[in-house]
Amino acid sequence: MKFRGLERLLLDEALDFLSDLKLRMSVEDFMKKLLQAALMLLPEFDRGSVIMKDNDGYYRYVAWVGFGEDLKNVKFPPGKAMIPKGDSPVVIDRVHNWNEINLKDDSLKSLESAGSKEIKKTIAIGIKVEGKIIGGFFLDTTKNVEITEEDLKVVKMFARIASIFATMKIYQERERGYQREIIMAMIKAMEARDPYTVGHSERVARYAVSIAKEMNLDTEDVDRIFWGSVVHDIGKLSIPEYILLKPTKLSKEEYEVIKRHPVAGEEMIKGYPWLDNIRPIVRNHHERWDGLGYPDGLKGEEIPFEVRIVSVADTFDAMTSDRAYRKGLPLSDAIKEIQEQTGKQFDPEIAKVAVKILPEVYNSIYIIRASS
Ligand SMILES: [Fe+2]
Ligand SMILES: [Fe+2]
Repeated sequence: MKFRGLERLLLDEALDFLSDLKLRMSVEDFMKKLLQAALMLLPEFDRGSVIMKDNDGYYRYVAWVGFGEDLKNVKFPPGKAMIPKGDSPVVIDRVHNWNEINLKDDSLKSLESAGSKEIKKTIAIGIKVEGKIIGGFFLDTTKNVEITEEDLKVVKMFARIASIFATMKIYQERERGYQREIIMAMIKAMEARDPYTVGHSERVARYAVSIAKEMNLDTEDVDRIFWGSVVHDIGKLSIPEYILLKPTKLSKEEYEVIKRHPVAGEEMIKGYPWLDNIRPIVRNHHERWDGLGYPDGLKGEEIPFEVRIVSVADTFDAMTSDRAYRKGLPLSDAIKEIQEQTGKQFDPEIAKVAVKILPEVYNSIYIIRASS
């Protein structure tokens, strides 16, 4: 493909735009950016949209540029969306005529009010994963323009990017599913050894995630906090049962063995690159703000932020749950304890949020427990 002068400039601009795309973006954000870049490169086109197949087999809009919000109410029944089957883009005149034949009233009305009647020409191409069509990429124009071979090539290139992204997203989700199952199985194995800790990891995850969300952390951090919480005590698998289940107070030596679980846990997850970013949570969840925790005696902001969040959540669940050697504290006492430990065991800022948010989360978990 040859680009000269203005086209070269546009291409540079579009490539700049594309270099900003990230795999962790949502499908919606990614496709919108892609449409914007395509429209930048082909200024004779003034609109664009992407539809994707949902689990129910219907196609729905995931991104659009230049159309009204009503597009989100449109659904195409299987086989009724104008997506070419082959690998090459197809030019459609007055795409709305096709939709009039194929769509039901409410979807058709929404399409009309979003502006589909004004479209004069459309370049359409399929988005494919493993050779199967899972979506459509459309660029539209409301002007009377001639569509060139060059235009078609550009659209084909964009549809290819969309297909690669969709494929990677699907692989990513599949892989995540497997990872989730593996981790959950390991956690269940760990918790099964000690009836008093059943559900501990998941509750810690719920507490920690609600603190993180209240503090407006971004999705990636919340995700890390969730998995870190689920896995944080995995090192307990290495603690002998007679210590883990001892109904009386632990001796000093036995307590030292218990204290090894964060480092043991970190050892266990080493070598899994996808768990690298939660290693600090596993290793350092027993550190304290005042530096008196273990295993590294980290102090204040030396302890990573997400670790400080998990550590409040962990202590809160430990306090409110029954253990082999004691009953759990009532909610109000546990909250009081967090307040008392503010600036000692806990980061003051996080402790404040925890005191505000945890009672509600605790009660919702309690209701679930009581009714099951
Ligand atoms: Fe722990
Ligand atoms: Fe724990």
